[in-house]
Amino acid sequence: MIPFSETILEWYAANGRDLPWRHTRDPYAIWLSEIILQQTRIAQGQAYWERFMAAFPNVKALASASEDEVLRLWQGLGYYSRARNLHAAARQIVELGAFPDTIEGIRRLKGVGDYTAAAIGSIAFGLPAAVVDGNVYRVLARHFGIVTPVGSTAAKKEFSELARKLLPTDRPGDFNQGMMDFGAVQCTPVSPACLLCPLADSCTALATGQVDRLPVKEKGTAVQTRRFDYIYLRFRGRTAIRRRGPGDIWQGLYEPVVREPGPRDGAGEKDLLLLRAGVKHQLTHRTLLADFYLWTPQEEPDLPEGYVWIEEAELDRYAKPRLFELLLESLPG
Ligand code: ADE
Repeated sequence: MIPFSETILEWYAANGRDLPWRHTRDPYAIWLSEIILQQTRIAQGQAYWERFMAAFPNVKALASASEDEVLRLWQGLGYYSRARNLHAAARQIVELGAFPDTIEGIRRLKGVGDYTAAAIGSIAFGLPAAVVDGNVYRVLARHFGIVTPVGSTAAKKEFSELARKLLPTDRPGDFNQGMMDFGAVQCTPVSPACLLCPLADSCTALATGQVDRLPVKEKGTAVQTRRFDYIYLRFRGRTAIRRRGPGDIWQGLYEPVVREPGPRDGAGEKDLLLLRAGVKHQLTHRTLLADFYLWTPQEEPDLPEGYVWIEEAELDRYAKPRLFELLLESLPG
């Protein structure tokens, strides 16, 4: 075996993180973990994985749930298209009759890209597919001194080919997870533990003083700020919410009355109480800035398009974006 790969496997055996989905070969459990970990850290994701496994112990149970139930359990994890795709894919799998056991088959599931297909295929079925994520880019760029900016198509090809050559085909799942853990624990973005690194002797970046410069990053796209007002309407123990439609963030989640801030003439503002200003919420490509209001009209207002009245006590039943939760936490009494 290639010495690099042997070292990763040895390191993983001694230092790999003990995670519940590593004690099973059940492809459903592994798939669920990979979807959760796509954009969530292990520390947060593990509790959600456990909750999902308890609520939906197998793919049939998940497929039989409603989308609202799945979204509600997903609440707080963000990137809700993952939950909708998870649910749709569960129905695909039930339709197929069994979890697909080839990379192409796994790749056809909704919400599964190249990375996730390789992770599931290698871990659950021992398929010889190499994963390439941020951790893998970093470990390979440093160890082999690769200066191609990550994020480019050329980089994806170059790093994928290298990872494939390094993959021990008899233990692809352990190698892939070893690379992920090695990148997360040992070869970290900032202050990697080079003094204690089992690959120090063969590391190009360490030998040439480039550890802090690799991997090379492409200039990112600017993060835009989007502002809006979140208005909690309270009228005789009821409030108004709306289910968000497709084509924007938070599809399928419920929101309070929302307005884009702009010049106001003051009319109709007298029943509005500002609760909090400038509440910030960070998404990958956008910063959201919201002002929170409480609106307690004297007369029953006409609701804007798409809104429905619900009892305030029933709010728990609806999946909400984190910002809406923060609005609820800001309400008096
Ligand atoms: N990130 C995504 N998948 C992972 C896994 N199986 N182990 C550790 N980190 C991960």
